[in-house]
Amino acid sequence: MAILEIKRYPDKILKIKAEPVRIIDSSIQNLIDNMIETMYAAPGVGLAAPQIGVSLRIMVADVNSREKGPGLTVIINPEIISALGETEEEEGCLSVPDYKDDIKRAEIVTVRGLNREGKEIEVESKGLLARALQHEIDHLNGTLIIDRLSPIKREIFKKKLRKALKTMTR
Ligand code: NI
Repeated sequence: MAILEIKRYPDKILKIKAEPVRIIDSSIQNLIDNMIETMYAAPGVGLAAPQIGVSLRIMVADVNSREKGPGLTVIINPEIISALGETEEEEGCLSVPDYKDDIKRAEIVTVRGLNREGKEIEVESKGLLARALQHEIDHLNGTLIIDRLSPIKREIFKKKLRKALKTMTR
């Protein structure tokens, strides 16, 4: 297992729609192990494969550090099959460090996919886990929290980032 570098905005891989996993082989198992270790080390409550530079549809999540949940959840090729209600809460992202904003999400979601043994699973979720699942599936579609901001807020974010980047390269 290894802790990998987490890609940060504006890295291009974060904008690409990730490819489905076709065969769950030892390289995929190894990737999942590294994702889990990287998520816990960050520390974060979720991580998607593109965040460590692999454009495949795999996500891991564990919200237990912040609220009661089912513990470690690994989903390959996840798909939201039902979404109910609406909730707005502050959200952050390991790929957009030092930034948090209120993001609207469905309140209760069911996600279908494969576990790491290749068995079909359905994960029913609410609260932070529902938010994390939607956030990580967004990553697999090349969508970041900043893409979910209002156009005005997004402009403010980009201006701040440009300023920060200028200071860094000075
Ligand atoms: Ni994220």
